[in-house]
Amino acid sequence: MSSQKVQNIMQQMTIEEKIGQLIQLSADFFQDGQAVITGPMKSSNLTLDTVYTVGSVLGISGAKKVRQIQHDYLKNSRLKVPLLFMADVVHGYQTIFPIPLALGASFNPETMKIASQVAAQESAAGGVHVTFAPMVDLVRDPRWGRVMESTGEDPYLNSVMADASVRGFQGTDLDGQHVAACVKHFAAYGAPEAGREYNTVDISEWRFKEQYLPAYQAAVDAQALLVMTSFNTLFGVPATANQHLMRDILRNELKFDGVLISDWDAIAELINHSVAGDLETAADLALKAGVDIDMMAFAYSKYLKKAASLDQTTADLIDESVTRILELKDKLGLFDDPYRGITEEREQSEIKTSANLTAAQTAAEESIVLLKNQRQTLPLAADTQAALIGPVAETGDLLGSWSWQGKASETESIQSALGAEMPNLKVATGVAYRSLNQKELAAAVTVARQQDVIIVALGLPSSESGEATSLTNIKLPDEQLMLLRKLAQLNKPIISLIISGRPMDLSEVDALSDAVVFAWFPGSRGAKAISNILLGKVNPSGKLPMTFPRSVGQVPIYYNHYRTGRPITNTPEDDENKYQSKYTDQKNSPLYPFGFGLSYAEIKVKDVEIVADQITTDGKLQVNVTLVNQSSRQGKTVIEAYVHQHVSETVRPVKSLVDFDKVTITANSSQKFRISIPCERFAAVHTNLEKYVDAGQYTLMVGLDSENVVAVPFVIK
Ligand code: GLC
Repeated sequence: MSSQKVQNIMQQMTIEEKIGQLIQLSADFFQDGQAVITGPMKSSNLTLDTVYTVGSVLGISGAKKVRQIQHDYLKNSRLKVPLLFMADVVHGYQTIFPIPLALGASFNPETMKIASQVAAQESAAGGVHVTFAPMVDLVRDPRWGRVMESTGEDPYLNSVMADASVRGFQGTDLDGQHVAACVKHFAAYGAPEAGREYNTVDISEWRFKEQYLPAYQAAVDAQALLVMTSFNTLFGVPATANQHLMRDILRNELKFDGVLISDWDAIAELINHSVAGDLETAADLALKAGVDIDMMAFAYSKYLKKAASLDQTTADLIDESVTRILELKDKLGLFDDPYRGITEEREQSEIKTSANLTAAQTAAEESIVLLKNQRQTLPLAADTQAALIGPVAETGDLLGSWSWQGKASETESIQSALGAEMPNLKVATGVAYRSLNQKELAAAVTVARQQDVIIVALGLPSSESGEATSLTNIKLPDEQLMLLRKLAQLNKPIISLIISGRPMDLSEVDALSDAVVFAWFPGSRGAKAISNILLGKVNPSGKLPMTFPRSVGQVPIYYNHYRTGRPITNTPEDDENKYQSKYTDQKNSPLYPFGFGLSYAEIKVKDVEIVADQITTDGKLQVNVTLVNQSSRQGKTVIEAYVHQHVSETVRPVKSLVDFDKVTITANSSQKFRISIPCERFAAVHTNLEKYVDAGQYTLMVGLDSENVVAVPFVIK
């Protein structure tokens, strides 16, 4: 029900002013502090008057600029309805945190919440009201560049992280330190066929509800105030025109009553999808699906006025959307203070503070994953004679895609951070991501020969990650592999350090390295975090939120797969049995499984005890897990609890994550931890698409990754 304040404004609005609220324009319509119509905008056939009626703008931030534009806008707005400022502040505003896939690797919801909280605090000081985050699309295909924006392949991990992120962005009362969260992209944008950007998504509603919907549900349950439609089709209809998806599922089942915004130009793209013959039809389909804001398709601005005069349904739908948008502005306090208290002084004092940068560093330290560490190659002593070689050694390009106002030029390099701690470090510079000449190669080998240990810093630039960066080849570039091969011939310990926004085929890297450290895009303080990990000041504790394949030919490969009718048994019998669900030219296991990550401490699961192995469907499974740390080093790890339901109406994943707990275990100790798992986490989606818990036989599996687990049976009565 809309407030009296909103109803009063609505009653005064002309149809043009109502439709204006449904329009979102890009930053180029507001230059030098005021509205402008120049160049490419002429195709939008907007007039300057219309610009002064639009409801929101995206891509602008900065206290001074936002104040100027808001002031100019309100001066020219008849009803003084403030402009809404939205922006892609995904994993930081100026203090850049690790990419969301890395935050997923932290397996620490508190880390995720802090990242969103700091991003909210800085972006709110910079005049942003709404952020286009969190992106909670479940992802299983590293060929797709936007896996970096997700927290990975697991419905439960993504749900926990989605909840933490929305609470971090919005806080408890959306005060001036917080922003409205816009969860995206609804829905299942992370499942494009062949990992090809913007490609068709075609999964059953059963699978959608079992695997893809939970994280969006968690974000909506955490009171996310906006949802963004996805570019892709789902169930045969583009999301932006999909009434079943948007009205039946989002609005009615998930009970979302906030603002639904289209992705960029997505309404016009209904024509490309061939579900609309023209822009007028596209506008009609989107409005009927409940899309409240048209981001830059100029469909609503062109067609709704005529439509509204022709039929009451359209007029009512427009009123519904305007009401939701005005309610959002009211929740943000914009009618009381259109500037939300921003000033240049406040912005200066609240952005890139040492506390924020420290939080970003801690997040990076929590999310870096140690994938291999043979013969205790790591950690290094500070006085080690080490060589640092590779394209990532000297760059500040450690922020990743969607890093808003983060600047690589202001980001410390790995060379700088390590050099400050390792007096004997020698660096071979000049090696590029995708080129290597004989001179550079010779220089690198010369430096390596002089030292005892070789740190090879490899990976991809931010530009090859994020939107519109699908790859068919997920190995490191040939030039980097050539460099690694050459260095491996020196028979010295090799530490491969990888910077990337996606799981990669690291088979050859693993074979040639004694240690492998995967640092994702670790953010503003990523180099310092890497240095602390390599030198053992911090014990690595990250775990993989996505499976790493041996080959792109295995993709999509993920841990929570179904058994099939001919499962491999992972025993020697597999070799004799040809007729199994497997490849015949490659091992069928992943290179590194979901949930995997090593520590410098020797931590193992010693015992798993279910307190009562018969529970009711409304009960909780109480489990005592004993860990032992047989090393002299304290460490953090993640207790991962998986469940397999033996028999159900629909096929069951071989295992599903149902609980995880990041714990610290002191040196040379044995500690017992209690985990308590609510029974509803064992629910399955049935043939009638209802999700509920079955009575029956289950197996609980507990481990420090998804493969090495201790299994214990239990029964749900
Ligand atoms: C982009 C992205 C979306 C982003 C929006 C605004 O195309 O798909 O995630 O929020 O446009 O920049």
